[in-house]
Amino acid sequence: MTAQLIDGNAISQTLRADVAQRAAALKAKGITPGLAVVLVGDNQASQVYVRNKVKSCQDNGLHSVLEKYDATMTEADLLARVEALNQDPSIHGILVQLPLPAHIDAQKVIEAISPAKDVDGFHIASAGALMTGMPGFWPCTPYGCMKMLQSIGYKLRGKHAVVIGRSNIVGKPMAMMLLQESATVTICHSATANLKDLTLQADVVVAAVGKRHVLTADMIKPGAVVIDVGMNRNDEGKLCGDVDFEGVKEVAGYITPVPGGVGPMTITMLLVNTLEAAERAAA
Ligand code: GUN
Repeated sequence: MTAQLIDGNAISQTLRADVAQRAAALKAKGITPGLAVVLVGDNQASQVYVRNKVKSCQDNGLHSVLEKYDATMTEADLLARVEALNQDPSIHGILVQLPLPAHIDAQKVIEAISPAKDVDGFHIASAGALMTGMPGFWPCTPYGCMKMLQSIGYKLRGKHAVVIGRSNIVGKPMAMMLLQESATVTICHSATANLKDLTLQADVVVAAVGKRHVLTADMIKPGAVVIDVGMNRNDEGKLCGDVDFEGVKEVAGYITPVPGGVGPMTITMLLVNTLEAAERAAA
């Protein structure tokens, strides 16, 4: 059996067209949705990510500002910038790119962002809202994974979903979103003793570890849906996920590729959240 691909670029195109349309509707009322992206330091990967985020905003009718600061910026100065953006009516979403330099307490900075502008969904208020099923912003990567499941009409109710990884950014919120859709959820991590026993029972597997070949064909139930959140480099320097794609695609029912899977969905959901923040502010 060969799995069907879930194409993150194609799903993104549809969702981004909707964002652009809703942004135009807001603009007609005199409101341009605005995202502020704050980058501190010169992390190479972060520079690429923020450039993509800013460009995607521009391509879809959102206003965006990129604030770049030296790695020597103090925590107090960064907190003051966040507070200024909280007060800025032209900014509806604030994203402080992580990682931050070691002398800055990232959690403190995240908590300084107004929950109404927390389009990354990393604030404790956003995490609490997700956990309790209240309205709030969902972290973009797991939110994008949910949209991918939706795109194939997958019904999660009563299904067994296994999430590999327990980060605050992906694994934990992913598990909450799957639970909200009435899946039975297992969270696996580096101390899980019997990973293969668990993944073999899974109807849906989400791999979010950040390590190549965490998930191989012998670990997959035939027909399962496999979502690959990994962004790794192989020995030739080529982008690859956490899943052994070539092997797993012969067993799974659906699979997301890397690149072209979850990656574009993360930025798309950032646009969706920013638009949503602007719509809420305008209401
Ligand atoms: N660093 C890596 N991914 C992300 C993300 O989604 N948001 C932020 N703010 N920083 C990141």
